Amino acid sequence: MTEQLSLEPGLLDEIVQQTRPLLGKGKVADYIPALADVDPNKLGIAVTSIDGTTVGAGDYLEPFSVQSISKVFSLTNALMLYEEQEIWGRVGKEPSGHSFNSLVQVELERGIPRNPFINAGALVIADLLQSRLGAPKQRMLEVVRMMSGNNGICYDKQVADSEYQHSARNAAIAYLMKSFGNFHNDVDAVLRNYFHYCALKMSCADLSRAMLYLANRGQTLSGQQLVSATQTRQLNALLATSGLYDGAGEFAYRVGMPGKSGVGGGIIAVIPGLLSVCVWSPELDGHGNSLAGTALLERLCQALGRSIF
Ligand code: DON
Repeated sequence: MTEQLSLEPGLLDEIVQQTRPLLGKGKVADYIPALADVDPNKLGIAVTSIDGTTVGAGDYLEPFSVQSISKVFSLTNALMLYEEQEIWGRVGKEPSGHSFNSLVQVELERGIPRNPFINAGALVIADLLQSRLGAPKQRMLEVVRMMSGNNGICYDKQVADSEYQHSARNAAIAYLMKSFGNFHNDVDAVLRNYFHYCALKMSCADLSRAMLYLANRGQTLSGQQLVSATQTRQLNALLATSGLYDGAGEFAYRVGMPGKSGVGGGIIAVIPGLLSVCVWSPELDGHGNSLAGTALLERLCQALGRSIF
């Protein structure tokens, strides 16, 4: 079921202004050195309604590093290439309750990551993409450009290289999974691709447009059926339970939308049948999720009087 979104003129500007006082209360990710250089005062929101109209406020047209938001693109790509049991035999569907880059469960649960949105799960998905695609980086760019309708989207090489130079933890996760037989390709090659996916540069407007399929039963802005309506519902269920890592419960309580965060400070979220939204503010909370970004989404849901619950 779809319905028309009615946003009061000026609402998004008002929400951005109300949220500005939170700037300075979080911490920009610095474990990837190239990300530490970003201006912490950026704040933006873009909303795309089911009819394809995008409106925004603040820094919503400025590209930033999507980081883990790319895990949604990766899983969607894998769903387009594989039978479901080939994916779900290698990665779970449960919230982890641990930080996004933890190794602990990977060891305890014999190399099967809890879900596709923690780093371990996304590395298995990147391994699956590597096995089926001749040029995984190029393919990702093509899909993301098509989904957002922006042919100018590209990778930030500096961010991808910076992360590769500080890849010890992700490499450890991948090798641990390999020791259990749940990683098939060369670790280094997959890591390089995974870091490129994370280093996609997109704006709130690009991301809200690209994610419209999650609100639109699997159909993109241009009417392409990416995944089925059932798969879209399943993707949203996984985003609602695991998209914000060990902060997923708090996010569901405050915001009430399926969502996905990235350490670049972006968060995407959707209300199926109504809208997709992306917010950006680089300072993060203790779980690695955008602090002011979460507040923007909370205010949007309150103003609309909507959540999925
Ligand atoms: O692999 C990493 O650690 C980063 N490229 C992505 C982590 C991330 O965005 C977690 N999200 N909140």
